[in-house]
Amino acid sequence: MQNLTEANLSDVVIAAMAGAKDERFKIIMTSLVKHLHAFIREANLTESEWLAGIQFLTTVGQKCDDKRQEFILLSDTLGATTMKDIINNRKPPGVTEYTILGPFHRGDAPEFPLSANLAGDLPGDPVVMRGRVLARNGSPIPNAALDVWQSDAEGFYDLQMPDMKGTALRGIFHADADGNYIFHTIKPSFYPIPYDGPVGQMLTAMGRHPYRPAHVHFIISAEGYQSVTTELFVSGDPYLDSDAVFGVRESLVVPFAQNDSGFTVDYDFVLEPA
Ligand code: BEZ
Ligand code: FE
Repeated sequence: MQNLTEANLSDVVIAAMAGAKDERFKIIMTSLVKHLHAFIREANLTESEWLAGIQFLTTVGQKCDDKRQEFILLSDTLGATTMKDIINNRKPPGVTEYTILGPFHRGDAPEFPLSANLAGDLPGDPVVMRGRVLARNGSPIPNAALDVWQSDAEGFYDLQMPDMKGTALRGIFHADADGNYIFHTIKPSFYPIPYDGPVGQMLTAMGRHPYRPAHVHFIISAEGYQSVTTELFVSGDPYLDSDAVFGVRESLVVPFAQNDSGFTVDYDFVLEPA
Protein backbone atom coordinates (compact mmCIF):
# COMPACT_ATOMS: atom_id res chain seq x y z
CA MET A 1 0.00 0.00 0.00
CA GLN A 2 1.22 3.46 -0.90
CA ASN A 3 1.51 6.00 1.91
CA LEU A 4 -0.24 9.28 1.04
CA THR A 5 1.76 12.45 1.58
CA GLU A 6 1.58 16.09 0.63
CA ALA A 7 4.19 15.35 -2.03
CA ASN A 8 2.47 12.41 -3.77
CA LEU A 9 -1.28 12.94 -3.20
CA SER A 10 -1.92 14.82 -6.47
CA ASP A 11 -0.24 12.08 -8.53
CA VAL A 12 -2.17 9.38 -6.67
CA VAL A 13 -5.54 11.07 -7.30
CA ILE A 14 -4.65 11.57 -10.97
CA ALA A 15 -3.52 7.95 -11.33
CA ALA A 16 -6.87 6.83 -9.88
CA MET A 17 -8.50 8.13 -13.09
CA ALA A 18 -6.46 5.80 -15.31
CA GLY A 19 -9.60 3.89 -16.28
CA ALA A 20 -11.56 6.95 -17.43
CA LYS A 21 -13.05 6.22 -20.86
CA ASP A 22 -13.35 9.79 -22.10
CA GLU A 23 -9.83 11.09 -22.86
CA ARG A 24 -10.83 14.74 -22.89
CA PHE A 25 -12.62 14.36 -19.54
CA LYS A 26 -9.45 12.80 -18.11
CA ILE A 27 -7.32 15.72 -19.34
CA ILE A 28 -9.70 18.26 -17.81
CA MET A 29 -10.00 16.47 -14.46
CA THR A 30 -6.23 15.93 -14.26
CA SER A 31 -5.64 19.64 -14.68
CA LEU A 32 -8.41 20.47 -12.19
CA VAL A 33 -6.95 18.18 -9.52
CA LYS A 34 -3.44 19.59 -10.07
CA HIS A 35 -4.57 23.20 -9.77
CA LEU A 36 -7.03 22.54 -6.92
CA HIS A 37 -4.32 20.86 -4.85
CA ALA A 38 -1.84 23.61 -5.70
CA PHE A 39 -4.40 26.23 -4.65
CA ILE A 40 -5.00 24.54 -1.28
CA ARG A 41 -1.27 24.34 -0.62
CA GLU A 42 -0.45 27.84 -1.84
CA ALA A 43 -3.26 29.44 0.20
CA ASN A 44 -2.53 27.20 3.22
CA LEU A 45 -6.28 26.62 3.43
CA THR A 46 -7.52 25.96 6.97
CA GLU A 47 -10.41 23.66 7.96
CA SER A 48 -12.77 26.61 8.58
CA GLU A 49 -11.76 28.35 5.32
CA TRP A 50 -12.42 25.13 3.38
CA LEU A 51 -15.84 24.88 5.04
CA ALA A 52 -16.61 28.56 4.29
CA GLY A 53 -15.80 27.84 0.62
CA ILE A 54 -18.12 24.82 0.59
CA GLN A 55 -20.88 26.88 2.21
CA PHE A 56 -20.36 29.69 -0.33
CA LEU A 57 -20.65 27.27 -3.29
CA THR A 58 -23.76 25.73 -1.69
CA THR A 59 -25.38 29.20 -1.51
CA VAL A 60 -24.38 29.89 -5.12
CA GLY A 61 -26.21 26.70 -6.14
CA GLN A 62 -29.25 27.54 -4.02
CA LYS A 63 -29.51 30.96 -5.70
CA CYS A 64 -29.86 29.35 -9.15
CA ASP A 65 -33.25 28.85 -10.79
CA ASP A 66 -34.62 29.04 -14.33
CA LYS A 67 -34.09 32.85 -14.38
CA ARG A 68 -30.93 33.25 -12.30
CA GLN A 69 -27.60 31.52 -12.97
CA GLU A 70 -25.39 32.44 -10.03
CA PHE A 71 -22.61 30.04 -11.11
CA ILE A 72 -22.21 31.86 -14.43
CA LEU A 73 -22.18 35.15 -12.52
CA LEU A 74 -19.43 33.69 -10.32
CA SER A 75 -17.48 32.65 -13.42
CA ASP A 76 -18.04 36.13 -14.93
CA THR A 77 -16.89 38.04 -11.84
CA LEU A 78 -13.78 35.87 -11.39
CA GLY A 79 -12.73 36.51 -15.00
CA ALA A 80 -13.15 32.80 -15.81
CA THR A 81 -15.78 33.49 -18.48
CA THR A 82 -13.54 36.08 -20.15
CA MET A 83 -10.48 33.78 -20.04
CA LYS A 84 -12.61 31.06 -21.70
CA ASP A 85 -13.89 33.61 -24.26
CA ILE A 86 -10.40 34.92 -25.08
CA ILE A 87 -8.81 31.51 -25.68
CA ASN A 88 -11.76 30.36 -27.79
CA ASN A 89 -12.02 33.52 -29.93
CA ARG A 90 -8.48 34.41 -30.96
CA LYS A 91 -8.85 36.72 -33.97
CA PRO A 92 -6.43 38.43 -36.33
CA PRO A 93 -6.04 42.20 -35.82
CA GLY A 94 -8.88 44.20 -37.36
CA VAL A 95 -11.55 41.56 -36.80
CA THR A 96 -14.29 42.60 -34.35
CA GLU A 97 -13.43 41.21 -30.93
CA TYR A 98 -15.68 38.81 -29.07
CA THR A 99 -16.91 39.66 -25.60
CA ILE A 100 -19.20 38.30 -22.94
CA LEU A 101 -22.78 37.30 -23.87
CA GLY A 102 -24.34 37.90 -20.43
CA PRO A 103 -27.71 36.68 -19.16
CA PHE A 104 -30.01 39.16 -20.94
CA HIS A 105 -30.03 37.82 -24.49
CA ARG A 106 -33.42 36.46 -25.63
CA GLY A 107 -34.28 34.18 -28.49
CA ASP A 108 -37.55 35.98 -29.24
CA ALA A 109 -36.31 39.44 -30.30
CA PRO A 110 -38.51 40.99 -33.00
CA GLU A 111 -37.20 41.80 -36.48
CA PHE A 112 -37.02 45.48 -37.43
CA PRO A 113 -36.40 47.20 -40.77
CA LEU A 114 -33.26 49.35 -41.03
CA SER A 115 -33.71 52.83 -39.53
CA ALA A 116 -36.32 51.61 -37.01
CA ASN A 117 -36.20 52.84 -33.42
CA LEU A 118 -35.44 50.10 -30.87
CA ALA A 119 -36.52 52.31 -27.98
CA GLY A 120 -40.20 52.77 -28.87
CA ASP A 121 -41.44 55.45 -26.47
CA LEU A 122 -38.94 54.75 -23.68
CA PRO A 123 -37.33 57.96 -22.43
CA GLY A 124 -33.63 58.64 -23.00
CA ASP A 125 -31.05 60.46 -25.09
CA PRO A 126 -31.61 59.61 -28.76
CA VAL A 127 -28.82 57.71 -30.50
CA VAL A 128 -28.25 56.77 -34.13
CA MET A 129 -26.03 53.72 -34.56
CA ARG A 130 -24.72 53.12 -38.04
CA GLY A 131 -21.91 51.54 -39.99
CA ARG A 132 -21.15 48.54 -42.15
CA VAL A 133 -20.56 44.84 -41.79
CA LEU A 134 -17.35 44.01 -43.63
CA ALA A 135 -14.96 41.18 -44.44
CA ARG A 136 -11.33 41.60 -43.39
CA ASN A 137 -10.35 42.82 -46.87
CA GLY A 138 -12.85 45.67 -46.51
CA SER A 139 -15.47 44.28 -48.86
CA PRO A 140 -19.06 44.60 -47.61
CA ILE A 141 -20.95 41.54 -46.39
CA PRO A 142 -24.50 41.84 -47.70
CA ASN A 143 -27.56 41.14 -45.52
CA ALA A 144 -25.72 40.29 -42.28
CA ALA A 145 -28.03 39.89 -39.28
CA LEU A 146 -27.48 42.17 -36.28
CA ASP A 147 -29.13 40.89 -33.10
CA VAL A 148 -29.05 43.91 -30.75
CA TRP A 149 -30.00 44.32 -27.07
CA GLN A 150 -29.26 46.92 -24.43
CA SER A 151 -30.34 48.47 -21.15
CA ASP A 152 -32.51 51.57 -20.89
CA ALA A 153 -31.33 54.99 -19.68
CA GLU A 154 -31.63 53.76 -16.07
CA GLY A 155 -29.62 50.58 -16.67
CA PHE A 156 -32.49 48.07 -16.87
CA TYR A 157 -33.08 45.43 -19.54
CA ASP A 158 -36.68 44.66 -20.55
CA LEU A 159 -36.41 41.37 -18.61
CA GLN A 160 -35.89 43.45 -15.45
CA MET A 161 -38.81 45.85 -16.03
CA PRO A 162 -41.71 44.73 -13.82
CA ASP A 163 -44.49 46.15 -16.07
CA MET A 164 -42.92 45.21 -19.40
CA LYS A 165 -45.03 42.93 -21.56
CA GLY A 166 -43.22 41.74 -24.67
CA THR A 167 -39.78 43.07 -25.53
CA ALA A 168 -38.03 46.46 -25.46
CA LEU A 169 -34.63 47.70 -26.54
CA ARG A 170 -33.87 44.54 -28.46
CA GLY A 171 -34.31 43.54 -32.07
CA ILE A 172 -32.84 41.98 -35.17
CA PHE A 173 -31.80 44.11 -38.15
CA HIS A 174 -30.42 43.04 -41.51
CA ALA A 175 -27.68 45.07 -43.17
CA ASP A 176 -28.47 46.05 -46.76
CA ALA A 177 -26.86 44.62 -49.90
CA ASP A 178 -23.86 46.97 -49.44
CA GLY A 179 -23.34 45.91 -45.82
CA ASN A 180 -24.81 49.13 -44.36
CA TYR A 181 -26.80 49.14 -41.14
CA ILE A 182 -28.51 51.97 -39.29
CA PHE A 183 -30.94 52.05 -36.38
CA HIS A 184 -32.19 54.45 -33.75
CA THR A 185 -32.16 53.82 -30.01
CA ILE A 186 -31.45 55.57 -26.71
CA LYS A 187 -28.16 55.88 -24.84
CA PRO A 188 -27.72 52.94 -22.45
CA SER A 189 -26.58 53.46 -18.86
CA PHE A 190 -24.01 51.69 -16.73
CA TYR A 191 -25.72 49.21 -14.41
CA PRO A 192 -24.98 46.71 -11.63
CA ILE A 193 -24.99 43.00 -12.39
CA PRO A 194 -27.40 41.13 -10.07
CA TYR A 195 -25.72 41.51 -6.65
CA ASP A 196 -28.42 40.44 -4.18
CA GLY A 197 -26.84 36.98 -3.77
CA PRO A 198 -23.58 35.30 -2.74
CA VAL A 199 -21.67 36.72 -5.72
CA GLY A 200 -22.65 40.23 -4.60
CA GLN A 201 -21.39 39.41 -1.09
CA MET A 202 -18.16 38.09 -2.58
CA LEU A 203 -17.66 41.32 -4.55
CA THR A 204 -18.18 43.38 -1.37
CA ALA A 205 -15.68 41.19 0.51
CA MET A 206 -13.22 41.69 -2.37
CA GLY A 207 -13.64 45.48 -2.16
CA ARG A 208 -15.24 45.51 -5.62
CA HIS A 209 -18.38 47.16 -7.06
CA PRO A 210 -20.95 45.31 -9.20
CA TYR A 211 -21.11 47.80 -12.13
CA ARG A 212 -20.70 47.25 -15.85
CA PRO A 213 -19.92 50.26 -18.07
CA ALA A 214 -22.73 51.30 -20.44
CA HIS A 215 -22.84 49.15 -23.57
CA VAL A 216 -24.95 47.81 -26.43
CA HIS A 217 -24.83 44.05 -27.10
CA PHE A 218 -24.62 42.57 -30.61
CA ILE A 219 -24.50 39.17 -32.23
CA ILE A 220 -23.48 39.68 -35.86
CA SER A 221 -23.96 36.75 -38.21
CA ALA A 222 -23.76 36.24 -41.95
CA GLU A 223 -23.70 33.20 -44.18
CA GLY A 224 -20.14 32.01 -44.85
CA TYR A 225 -18.71 33.99 -41.89
CA GLN A 226 -18.02 33.28 -38.23
CA SER A 227 -20.61 35.06 -36.14
CA VAL A 228 -19.39 37.30 -33.34
CA THR A 229 -20.95 38.06 -29.95
CA THR A 230 -19.78 41.46 -28.86
CA GLU A 231 -20.60 44.77 -27.19
CA LEU A 232 -19.93 48.43 -27.98
CA PHE A 233 -19.02 50.47 -24.90
CA VAL A 234 -19.74 54.17 -24.39
CA SER A 235 -16.42 55.97 -24.32
CA GLY A 236 -15.94 58.12 -21.20
CA ASP A 237 -18.01 55.76 -19.02
CA PRO A 238 -16.73 55.80 -15.41
CA TYR A 239 -16.61 51.98 -15.20
CA LEU A 240 -14.60 51.19 -18.36
CA ASP A 241 -11.53 50.29 -16.29
CA SER A 242 -13.37 48.30 -13.62
CA ASP A 243 -16.08 46.28 -15.41
CA ALA A 244 -17.40 43.78 -12.83
CA VAL A 245 -17.27 40.99 -15.45
CA PHE A 246 -14.10 42.01 -17.35
CA GLY A 247 -15.85 42.39 -20.71
CA VAL A 248 -14.26 45.62 -21.99
CA ARG A 249 -11.81 45.55 -24.92
CA GLU A 250 -10.18 48.75 -26.12
CA SER A 251 -11.30 48.14 -29.72
CA LEU A 252 -14.94 48.04 -28.58
CA VAL A 253 -15.00 51.42 -26.83
CA VAL A 254 -16.68 53.89 -29.18
CA PRO A 255 -17.39 57.61 -29.05
CA PHE A 256 -21.05 58.60 -28.75
CA ALA A 257 -20.65 61.85 -30.71
CA GLN A 258 -23.08 64.50 -29.47
CA ASN A 259 -24.99 66.71 -31.91
CA ASP A 260 -28.15 68.86 -31.81
CA SER A 261 -30.51 65.90 -31.97
CA GLY A 262 -28.68 63.42 -29.71
CA PHE A 263 -25.73 61.11 -30.27
CA THR A 264 -24.28 59.29 -33.27
CA VAL A 265 -22.16 56.15 -33.19
CA ASP A 266 -20.27 54.99 -36.29
CA TYR A 267 -18.88 51.48 -36.10
CA ASP A 268 -17.97 48.90 -38.74
CA PHE A 269 -18.12 45.24 -37.72
CA VAL A 270 -15.50 43.00 -39.35
CA LEU A 271 -16.07 39.24 -39.61
CA GLU A 272 -13.84 36.31 -40.47
CA PRO A 273 -14.76 33.66 -43.02
CA ALA A 274 -16.32 30.53 -41.53
C1 BEZ B 1 -24.54 41.89 -19.44
O1 BEZ B 1 -23.79 42.63 -20.01
O2 BEZ B 1 -25.70 41.91 -19.80
C2 BEZ B 1 -24.04 41.01 -18.31
C3 BEZ B 1 -22.90 40.26 -18.49
C4 BEZ B 1 -22.46 39.44 -17.45
C5 BEZ B 1 -23.14 39.39 -16.26
C6 BEZ B 1 -24.29 40.17 -16.07
C7 BEZ B 1 -24.74 40.99 -17.12
FE1 FE C 1 -25.30 44.04 -20.70
